[in-house]
Amino acid sequence: MPKTKFTLPGLSEETAAKVVAILQDRLVSYSDLHLTLKHVHWNVVGPNFIAVHEMIDPQVDAVRLFADAAAERIAALGASPKGTPGAIVSGRTWDDYGLGRDTVQHHLEALDKVYDGVIESNRKEMDELEDLDLVTQDMLIEHTEALEQFHWFIRAHLENAAGAIPA
Ligand SMILES: [Fe+2]
Repeated sequence: MPKTKFTLPGLSEETAAKVVAILQDRLVSYSDLHLTLKHVHWNVVGPNFIAVHEMIDPQVDAVRLFADAAAERIAALGASPKGTPGAIVSGRTWDDYGLGRDTVQHHLEALDKVYDGVIESNRKEMDELEDLDLVTQDMLIEHTEALEQFHWFIRAHLENAAGAIPA
């Protein structure tokens, strides 16, 4: 009899479905993030424009690769990654990025919150993966390390010498 379903050897279909749901959630999150970062790259103005404009593109490139990795792992698990704009919008649980053309300060404050949300979700899902699939967890750990560095790049523009972001 032909196999109608495939998932990774050694993984139950039930576990695979949970891992796929986590990866789809990361695909939505990463897709939203790299599009939002590009939007900031285009819309940021004012003093330090070029520093922030140029800082953002390597983040876009990296996050696009994270989205690709999440999507391809969904496929490797035997499921279909949903990467259309409609799937991204319907799959997300947060509001669209609120700023248009605006200052470096305002965009960095907003991006600080964007990274807060993405990293918090990654950590929550890394915890869930502890009992589901360590290979996917390892992938998210690698992504999170980079995202936390990018978050620091953002915060370093906003912090004072005490390491705090003034209100
Ligand atoms: Fe550009």
